[in-house]
Amino acid sequence: MKPRILVTGGTGYIGSHTVVELQNAGYPVVIIDNLSNSNRDVLDGIERITGIRPDFVEADCTDIDALRNLFDTYPGIKGIINFAASKAVGESMQKPVLYYRNNLNTLLNLLDLMAERDVDGIVFSSSCTVYGEPDVNPVTEQTPIKKATSPYGNTKQISEEIITDVINAGANFKSVILRYFNPVGAHPSAEIGELPNGVPQNLIPYLTQTAMGIRKELSVFGDDYNTPDGSCIRDYIDVVDLAKAHVIAIERMLTNASEDKIEIFNLGTGNGLSVLELINAFETATGVKVPHKIVGRRAGDIEKVWANPSHANNVLGWKALTPIADTMRSAWAWQCKLRERGIM
Ligand code: UFG
Repeated sequence: MKPRILVTGGTGYIGSHTVVELQNAGYPVVIIDNLSNSNRDVLDGIERITGIRPDFVEADCTDIDALRNLFDTYPGIKGIINFAASKAVGESMQKPVLYYRNNLNTLLNLLDLMAERDVDGIVFSSSCTVYGEPDVNPVTEQTPIKKATSPYGNTKQISEEIITDVINAGANFKSVILRYFNPVGAHPSAEIGELPNGVPQNLIPYLTQTAMGIRKELSVFGDDYNTPDGSCIRDYIDVVDLAKAHVIAIERMLTNASEDKIEIFNLGTGNGLSVLELINAFETATGVKVPHKIVGRRAGDIEKVWANPSHANNVLGWKALTPIADTMRSAWAWQCKLRERGIM
C-alpha cells in the first residue's frame, strides 16, 4: 500500500489532473480545496476516469486548524503537493494582499504541519514567471531569477526562498520545486479540464470559447514583438504530461532517490510557439476556425520564454510527450463537453 498524499487545490485545473495520475499510480489521495476557483463536480470527473473517488475536505489552507483536523482525520500523509494558490497575474496587481496572504500563509501552514506530523516531502508548484523576461532562451534552472513583474510572480519567488530557507535550517523533509511553463489542454477523456470563472484571461480557454461562439473573437495581444511573426512565444505543455511529473517527484522524495533535500526542475516541452502558431495548430488539429484580430500589447507580457527541460528529462526521466495537435484536440473536446453539459 502506497502512502497517502495530500493534494492542496486538488479540484483545480492542474491539481485534478495530478490526482488522476496519483490514483492511477496507486496513491491514496486526500484533497483540500476551498472551491474558490473550482467545484465539487470535478470529484465526479476524477471518479469516472479512475474508478476511485478521492477523499475531499472543503476548507482553506490558510486555516491551520482546518489543516490540523485534516491530518487527524487522515493519518499517514507522507507527501504533499501544493497547488492551492491564487494564480491570475492581472488580478494580483489589483489585490496584492490577497495574493500574499493566500499563497504565503498556505505554504507557511503546510511547512509547520510537515514538521509537526512527520511528512517526508512537498512538491511545490512554481512557475516560469520567476525568470521574468529572460536574456537568453531556452531557460535552464540556472537562468538568473529577475525581479518579479507581479505580486503573483513575487509569491512564487518568495515561496521558493521560504522552502529553501526552511530546508537549509535543518527541516526533516525534502522538496521538489517544479517550474511550470504554460499548461494547456485537458484529460483525453474530457471528464476534467480547465474551467475558468468569468471571462478567461489565458489564451487557450479564450480561444476554445471563441471557437465555440461564446466569444466573438480572440484578441492577439501584439504582433510587433521581436519574434519571427511578431506575436509572443511561450512553451505550451500538455496538462497530463505535467501531471505525470508530479507523481515522479513524489516517488523520488518518498524513496529517497535524491541526495539533495531540495531540487528544482523546469517543466516544459523545449519548444517555443507563438500565439499565431498556436491558433494555427488549433485550427489544423480540429478543423475549427478561430476568429481573431491583432490588438495592442497586453501590459506585463513577456516577449518570449521557453524551457530547456534537460534537467527534468535526465534526472526525473520525464519528458513532455504529447504532440501539440493532440493537446489542442483535448482542449476542444473539453470545451465541447462543457457545451454538452450546458455549462458553457
Ligand atoms: N494572449 C493573447 N490573447 C488572449 C490571451 C493571451 O494573445 O486573449 C497571449 C498573451 O499575450 C501571451 C500568450 O497568449 O503572449 C499566453 O498568455 P496566457 O495568459 O495564456 O499565459 P501567460 O504566459 O501570460 O501566463 C501563464 C499563466 C501564469 C503563469 C505563466 C507562466 O497565466 O499564471 O503562464 O507559468 F505564471
